[in-house]
Amino acid sequence: MLRIGLLTSGGDCQALNATMRGIVKTVLNNAQESVKIYGFEDGYQGLIYGRYRTMAWDDFSGVLTQGGTILGTSRTPFKLLDTPEEDGVKKVPSMIKTYRELKLDCLFMLGGNGSTKTADRLSSEGLNVIALPKTIDNDTWGTDITFGFTSAIDVATTFIDEIKTTASSHGRVFVIEIMGHKVGWIPLYAGVAGGADVILLPEIPYDMRNVVKAIEKRDADGGRFAIVAVAEGAISKKEAALSKKEYKRKVAARKYSVAYEIAEQVAALTGREVRVGIPGHTQRGGAPDAQDRILATQCGVEAARGCLEGQYGFMVAKVRNRMCRVPLKDVAGKLKYVDPQSDLVCEAKLMGISFGDE
Ligand code: F6P
Repeated sequence: MLRIGLLTSGGDCQALNATMRGIVKTVLNNAQESVKIYGFEDGYQGLIYGRYRTMAWDDFSGVLTQGGTILGTSRTPFKLLDTPEEDGVKKVPSMIKTYRELKLDCLFMLGGNGSTKTADRLSSEGLNVIALPKTIDNDTWGTDITFGFTSAIDVATTFIDEIKTTASSHGRVFVIEIMGHKVGWIPLYAGVAGGADVILLPEIPYDMRNVVKAIEKRDADGGRFAIVAVAEGAISKKEAALSKKEYKRKVAARKYSVAYEIAEQVAALTGREVRVGIPGHTQRGGAPDAQDRILATQCGVEAARGCLEGQYGFMVAKVRNRMCRVPLKDVAGKLKYVDPQSDLVCEAKLMGISFGDE
């Protein structure tokens, strides 16, 4: 008998169920023996506390288009992995115990960066683990794209589209805050797709004078309104010059999020009427788009193939449009940032979008 476990960890995204469907259907369709499926509830917490349910083919039928995760999820920060739970339970030994007691042959872990680090740790403890790159943020190193990303771009783009009509009626500047604390993939892509005039990313520190210049140029060109798409982690050049500790303190002291701070400055410096729009967690919500459903299916199939071949300790990845397997140790702990010199940034600049850096 082949015994497999599944868990979804970290912030959710639209294509988690579609990915699990891909894994399970492939395993069931190709295994040479009977298969027992365990679904762990609420991420690594389910593995720590032995909270799981046995699942079957029909649990994964009809979930292709269903957002969220049928297993539930939670965050188990990697930096606290060796700190016992509040009730004294030790996380890593408990996870190993659950895995061993269920005699698992393989654990499929759908998660982002922190969760993949934990997967690598479990793998180094001797468990057979396969990771699948989940996150709307698209910041997982080792893969060109993560599932959740394109659906999130769509939500953020639609949000910008819908703001534009009211922005135009009132001749206002809108500062729209898009998810991405450390990396700016969603604000970059949604900003370009939504026709933003200014895009501010964590990877490209801005100078407010350049932001104002871009808004005033748009006004002079006859644009009635302006859209400033800012990442949650947008950072000014002055802030980028602070030490990590000083910057953290500054962010913690903010009463509201970065968009409000930027909006206040834009209003003061331009005299324009400025409003803030924040799609927030809707960016992780709803059904996966078609591209995500395809990527999720491909990731699921590739992960299942690895398991059926007896290969573990890797993360499924899509590189130059091909599915491949990247060793967990090569991925763990690395973030994939937007390259300020990348084609899309350069193209956006060429057609007049400001990133506030020049
Ligand atoms: O990791 C995905 C993400 O949606 C980030 O883009 C965002 O900054 C963060 O999670 C929000 O976290 P939470 O769901 O804990 O509020």
